[in-house]
Amino acid sequence: MNNVVSVILAAGYGTRMESSLPKVLHPLAGQPMVTYSLELVRELKIKRRIIVLGHQIEIIKEAVNKIDKETTCVHQKQQLGTGHALQVVQPYLTNFYGTILVLSADVPLLKQSTIYKMITYHQNSSSSCTLLTVKLENPRGYGRIIRDESGEIIKITEQGDLKDSQHEIKEINSGIYCFNSEDLFSALSLIDKDNFQKEYYLTDVIEIIKNRGCFVGSISVEDPSEIMGVNTQQELSYASQVMYQANAIEQMKRGVTIISPVNTYLARNVKIGKGTIIYPFTFISEGCQIGCNSHIGPFSNVIESQIGDHCRILSSMIEQSSIGNNTTIGPYAHVRPESIIGNEVKIGNFVEIKKTFIDQGTKANHMSYLGDATLGKNVNIGAGTIICNYDGVRKNPTIIEDGVFIGSNNSLVAPVTIGKDSYTAAGSTITENVPPLSLGIARSRQKNVLGWVEKKRQ
Ligand code: UD1
Ligand code: CA
Repeated sequence: MNNVVSVILAAGYGTRMESSLPKVLHPLAGQPMVTYSLELVRELKIKRRIIVLGHQIEIIKEAVNKIDKETTCVHQKQQLGTGHALQVVQPYLTNFYGTILVLSADVPLLKQSTIYKMITYHQNSSSSCTLLTVKLENPRGYGRIIRDESGEIIKITEQGDLKDSQHEIKEINSGIYCFNSEDLFSALSLIDKDNFQKEYYLTDVIEIIKNRGCFVGSISVEDPSEIMGVNTQQELSYASQVMYQANAIEQMKRGVTIISPVNTYLARNVKIGKGTIIYPFTFISEGCQIGCNSHIGPFSNVIESQIGDHCRILSSMIEQSSIGNNTTIGPYAHVRPESIIGNEVKIGNFVEIKKTFIDQGTKANHMSYLGDATLGKNVNIGAGTIICNYDGVRKNPTIIEDGVFIGSNNSLVAPVTIGKDSYTAAGSTITENVPPLSLGIARSRQKNVLGWVEKKRQ
């Protein structure tokens, strides 16, 4: 958007969270809360983006840089109020004449379309300032919009400064504003701390602007949850639920079956194909892709991974890996990062896989560890097979070629290669390569001591 600078306020203490983690880094629907406002202004193509940080600036700055390194972090050394936060930004904008969009990092459910509408309205009207407001059944805690008899906004009064009848006012300030830069900065120099919280309130500039004869406009949102502020752990959990619910609804509109949306935790940018069923207590993180007609869950956690069509992922965890088509994982399997699992593969109970490539038709059905390995097509891994990939210093590779049969309870000591179509005997500790079409057997011979029991009894 043209001629707009965005300023996200995030310097406050977040005292009401009762937590040592900065408020805006608390996870909301799987991502740090600050992500949502940062992404919103970036997606609106606002070129100049500022965030005001103060309390715990170093940790938050690091997170901000990861999400959007083009956002300028401005340091508000002392948190003297939302008005003071904008005063601190002023020197960065001395040559800017246009619209200043102010957002709070603790208002995470805001929609891009609402802000687009607000900026468009502001720039096409003669308002010095445009507020985003909503009427709430329970407006407690929010600043109230005070209008005159003709309905024009004359000021905002904060909760602590309300006079008797003003408590009844249901229209609240969302903390989201568009200002004409000149009108904002000239009004900011006039605010004081003469109020209940002894802070410089940004909301006080409204009355100053109005008294100068300028117009203060407003637009409203229909759904109050869109502008809810997150100040406490309860509000955080409520906002997460609202977002997860909205994400589930989006997926259902596109043909995904979700058995219980209130117990399903899908991040925002997740692609799921039609006909896929998501069972309860399943988490799917940002950026995951899942094909058509797959069954995911119950009790599964899919993190930054791709899963193909017609798969089944049951009570399992998949991290930063990719799974082909018609593959079954679980129950109780753990696929760790950098694994690539092909089509028609079966990974069963209590199998852990790390940084391993598994080709088509291979089965590892029971209690195994496969790490740093490459498995060919149609391999059978017997129950309890352990790949000993780590020698205490290095991680060593194992290659198991097409058609191999690994007997139960094998230890494969890497680096080792098991040649095509060969077998290893149950209970073997394989330390040397097995050539193709051979049997590798590495266990001591059984000896039966005849009559041993009778002797013992005598
Ligand atoms: C603020 C508004 C209130 C509005 C509500 C909406 C003021 C005075 N009040 O109240 O009218 O209804 O938001 O959610 O603005 N911050 C700074 N520096 C500071 C103080 C705060 O950057 O010195 C940041 C906070 O980190 C937060 C935002 O500004 O992201 C709002 O501050 P907060 O203390 O949460 O204000 P509210 O009491 O919620
Ligand atoms: Ca707040």
